[in-house]
Amino acid sequence: MGEIISIISGKGGVGKTTVALNLASAFNKKGYNTLVFDGNVSSPTGALYLGYLPADRTINNVLKGDIELDGAILTHDSGVKLLTCSLGIADLKSDYRKAFGLLNTLKKKHDVIFLDAGAGLDEEAQLAIEASDFVIVVTNPELPATIDALRAVRLARAFNKKVLGVIVNKVNYGLPQLPVEEVGNIAEAPVIGSIIEDDAVHEAFAYNQPVVHMRPNAKASADFMNIASKILGEDKKYRGNAILDRFSFWLHKIGLKYLP
Ligand SMILES: Nc1ncnc2c1ncn2[C@@H]1O[C@H](COP(=O)(O)OP(=O)(O)O)[C@@H](O)[C@H]1O
Ligand SMILES: [Mg+2]
Repeated sequence: MGEIISIISGKGGVGKTTVALNLASAFNKKGYNTLVFDGNVSSPTGALYLGYLPADRTINNVLKGDIELDGAILTHDSGVKLLTCSLGIADLKSDYRKAFGLLNTLKKKHDVIFLDAGAGLDEEAQLAIEASDFVIVVTNPELPATIDALRAVRLARAFNKKVLGVIVNKVNYGLPQLPVEEVGNIAEAPVIGSIIEDDAVHEAFAYNQPVVHMRPNAKASADFMNIASKILGEDKKYRGNAILDRFSFWLHKIGLKYLP
């Protein structure tokens, strides 16, 4: 029986989907059978980042009885497995409580499911929290995002869920930001780890890839791998090598070396 970890935030745009896709890639690398479930049902984006424009098989097809649940799982060439929702406006009327109900079946077949939640703390995010075993709150090192992280932490605890901690994403030492430890203090939760603001994240998505898969030497990729280690209670540390990463990416762009 696997574990469901919801990725919530309160504030939008902090990097929940980026974290869900890249932690899935990191867990895959560590040998775990991992799935990303797009719980941002009214505005699913994970599949778009991976280049499904749009996805031809979705949770909505399963809810309508058109296909089996297993048939809706998209296996990306990075190895990331994803279940997503329809972008169709008519499908917004679908019974999404039933969609979250599918997680009970999926849990039996996967070690870890990252449940990418929608922004806000309303019904959609609450369905994600309710459906999960553990909760991770993503934030940025800024006050508005961190106050929303605190609200998300308190909401998850009100549902009696164990909050693994906060992930502080888009850290930029060149900007006046909250120190990472301060984010944890304000959010009343331990800091699992932080992720640097790194162009490689954007650039990898431009190639429809999670950065962890395409740019393993990028600093952000090392940060994701370290967070995966921390969640798993492993000692293994990753450092990344920004120069090697930039050089391989440049070679890739001029077609001399193949990056995944
Ligand atoms: N560590 C990072 N470095 C640079 N850009 C990032 C990083 N994390 C996320 N982003 C970018 O921020 C934007 C919002 O991320 P997303 O994961 O969609 O947020 P959310 O799911 O919380 O709305 C995307 O353009 C993504 O590429
Ligand atoms: Mg998102």
